[in-house]
Amino acid sequence: MKYTIHGGDVDLISRMYGIEKEKIINFSGNVSPMGLPSSVRNVITNNIDCICEYPDVAYLSLKEAIGEYSGANPKNITVGNGSTELISHFIAAVNPQKSIVVSPAYSEYIKEIKNCGGAFSLFELQEKDDFILNIDELLKIIDSDTDMLVLCNPNNPTGTYVTEENLKIILQKCRETDTFVFIDETYVEFADDNVNISGVALTDEFDNLCVIRGTSKFFCCPGLRLGYAICSNNKICDTVNGRKDSWSVNSFAELCGKTMFKDKEFIKNSRSFICSERKRICDILIDFKNIYVYKTQSNFFLLKILKEGVTSKDVFDKLIKKNILIRNAEDFPFLSDRFIRFCILLKDENDMLLNELRKITE
Ligand SMILES: Cc1ncc(COP(=O)(O)O)c(C=O)c1O
Repeated sequence: MKYTIHGGDVDLISRMYGIEKEKIINFSGNVSPMGLPSSVRNVITNNIDCICEYPDVAYLSLKEAIGEYSGANPKNITVGNGSTELISHFIAAVNPQKSIVVSPAYSEYIKEIKNCGGAFSLFELQEKDDFILNIDELLKIIDSDTDMLVLCNPNNPTGTYVTEENLKIILQKCRETDTFVFIDETYVEFADDNVNISGVALTDEFDNLCVIRGTSKFFCCPGLRLGYAICSNNKICDTVNGRKDSWSVNSFAELCGKTMFKDKEFIKNSRSFICSERKRICDILIDFKNIYVYKTQSNFFLLKILKEGVTSKDVFDKLIKKNILIRNAEDFPFLSDRFIRFCILLKDENDMLLNELRKITE
C-alpha cells in the first residue's frame, strides 16, 4: 500500500526516521514561524480556571471579535473546532451530488464530498499557466447540475490566488446555476496588502457562498482548533448548527480567539515579516538554475525540480537526514514526482533550507 505523508505530520516522520520530534525543523505544516501571540500566551496562563466553566454556547463575544477582525457580520459567523470541523458540517449540509473542486488543492474537501456519497470532478489548474486559475474555462463547466464549487484562496499547494473581482464573476455564474461556493481562506492573511482577494465582503450579497477560515496557520496555534465560517444562507447555517456538537469550541479557544483577533501589533508584524521574507526567498530561488519557483501569495512555496534524475522523494530524503522536513508534493492531483512545497520559517532556518536545496539541485 502506498503511504502518503501529509504536511505537518511530524509525529509520523519522527517515528519513521527515528528523529526526535523536537529536532525536526518543520517546513511542511504551513504554520507561521512567529509563534503564539504573547497576548494569547498571557491570557491562557492568567485564566487557567476558565476550563472550569462551559464556553458561551452561542459564542457571541467571540463572533463579535471575529466580525471586527474580518469585516464579517457576526450574524453570519459560525465557529468550529478548526476549519476542518466546519468543512465537514457545511459540506454535509449542502449535500452536493455533483461538485467541482479546483485542484490541486487541500485534500479534506474531496474526503468530505466522498463521505456524503457525492460525485466530483477536478478542475485542473494548469502547470502551463503557472497554476493560475483560468476563470473563463472554469465558468464553461459550471452548469445547473453543479451543486458545489470548492476553491482555496490562496490555494494550497500552489499559492496562487483569485482576486475579489473575479470571485464575484464566479459567484454570479454560480448563483444562476444554483451552485454553492466554498472559498477556503486559511492562508488569506499572508497575502500582500495590495492584492484584494478575500471573499468576506461578498458574503452579504451572495447567499450561495461560504468563506472558511482558520487560526492554525497565521496565529500559530494548530493545537487550539479554532476556525470560523462566514455565510449568510440561514438554511445552510441552521442545518450546520443542528449537526454540530454544542461547545465544540472549548473555553480556551474561545478566550484565545477573543484575544488574538484584537492583537493588532502581532497581526501587523506577522504580515510584514512573511511578506518581506516571501519576497527575499523568491528573489533567491529565481536564480537557482535547476528549480522553478511559482509565484505565491501564501506563506509557502511550490517548487518544481528541473535537475534531471532528481525527484521530490530524493530531495525529501536528503533533507530529512538533516532534520529538515519539507512536503513531498507528488501525491497532489496533477503534480508529479518533481514537486515540493515548503513554508516560510525564520530567516536563518529559511537560509539553511535554501543552502541545502542549492547543494542538492546544482
Ligand atoms: C487549505 C486548508 N484548509 C484547511 C486546513 C485545516 O486547518 P484547521 O487547522 O483550521 O482545521 C488546512 C490545513 O493544512 C489547509 O491547508
